[in-house]
Amino acid sequence: MKYEAIKSELFIKNRKNFADKMVSNSLAIFNSNDIYPISADSTLPFAQHRDIFYLSGVDQEESILVLFPNAPNPEHREILFLKETNDHIAVWEGAKWSKKEALEKAGIETVYWLQDFEKTLFSLMQQADGVYLNTNEHYRANIETETREARFIKQFKQTYPAHNIYRSQPILQRLRSVKDQIELDLMQTACDITNKGFRRVLEFVKPGVMEYEIEAELSHEFLRNRSKGFAYTPIIGSGYNACVLHYIENNQECKDGDVILLDVAAEYANYSSDMTRSIPVSGKFTDRQKDVYNAVLRVKTAAAKLLVPGTIWAEFHIEVGEIMTKELIGLGLINQEDVDKQDPKWPAYKKYFMHGTAHHIGLDTHDYGILTEPMQANMVFTVEPGIYIPEENLGIRIEDNYVIQEKGVPINMMGNIPETVEDIERLMAK
Ligand code: GLY
Ligand code: MN
Ligand code: MN
Repeated sequence: MKYEAIKSELFIKNRKNFADKMVSNSLAIFNSNDIYPISADSTLPFAQHRDIFYLSGVDQEESILVLFPNAPNPEHREILFLKETNDHIAVWEGAKWSKKEALEKAGIETVYWLQDFEKTLFSLMQQADGVYLNTNEHYRANIETETREARFIKQFKQTYPAHNIYRSQPILQRLRSVKDQIELDLMQTACDITNKGFRRVLEFVKPGVMEYEIEAELSHEFLRNRSKGFAYTPIIGSGYNACVLHYIENNQECKDGDVILLDVAAEYANYSSDMTRSIPVSGKFTDRQKDVYNAVLRVKTAAAKLLVPGTIWAEFHIEVGEIMTKELIGLGLINQEDVDKQDPKWPAYKKYFMHGTAHHIGLDTHDYGILTEPMQANMVFTVEPGIYIPEENLGIRIEDNYVIQEKGVPINMMGNIPETVEDIERLMAK
């Protein structure tokens, strides 16, 4: 792994928090992700399932975590099953976690090799009344492939049909959405790496550069700072491309007079940052671009102030919609009549701002969190308003990541990343 070791204290605490929510005499099982095949012997780079990572820090394939807080044998209260390492594997694949490393990095004392999983589970299941299974219940999940976790669940339910089954997800969604200070520090590192990448881009961009050259500059800066790379597929859209919300081709030339929308951010230690900036190819915004930019920035600033304990996500979106409506009227894009006759289900502002304003962020870019429950301190949200005007070949979005505070306005983790028209123009002029 490129990242610096994470204190095992985080994972020990996370497991305790999860165990505290389990019904008595039950166990919980969490699987790694598979390594996904491409074809022949090619594979995608391994990406760990965030839940087993959250609970153990184990960042390798073929690992299984079992939590059994009431296990009669205290050695079975936490068990990590790992792919057996040996000299041959060490030579061909590099070192995997040893039992000693598992204790140091995860704080787990009982480590068995994976080949002992089935027989160990069989004996544990005789002592447990129920089991927590980890189905994917994210509100945006759209899964066509069978994950290792899903495959395990299918097999497990056939083997143990008489046990009570519980869902891990409500517990994990609540726990993972409220960040520990160690997690906030890791996320801040991700934001700081993103900052470095963006500053590099500000010096690099000039008329004629290709969108993919900007992507390359960011990749370079991210990797040399211990990030694996982008936290999500980067969007680098100049001119009209900025109005295509999921534009990821990044293959066009950036032309003088256009604005480039950059939704580009680094991961660090599996934690995401999620930033958007919109910059002029020439280094100077036109008056019209500046007006739209400042309208988006005002919406972002006003929206961020609404992120306080108690706020409900859906109500937040209604308020942001009202703020955006005023700005769009100010820009002459919609008028009062449009608003008076608008469909409440698809208000007039949606013509120019058609996506959500905020999502949880953490180990996943669109992180866990139960959106119907009130916001709490130490939740981290993006704020990302945008105005997209295809008829003007102009799309502007500004996106930062905010930590909700117990009292007062949230902290902007991206407060050091250039954002005002003046700062962007000044840094691009260098
Ligand atoms: N980059 C993904 C998002 O902004 O939600
Ligand atoms: Mn986002
Ligand atoms: Mn984004």
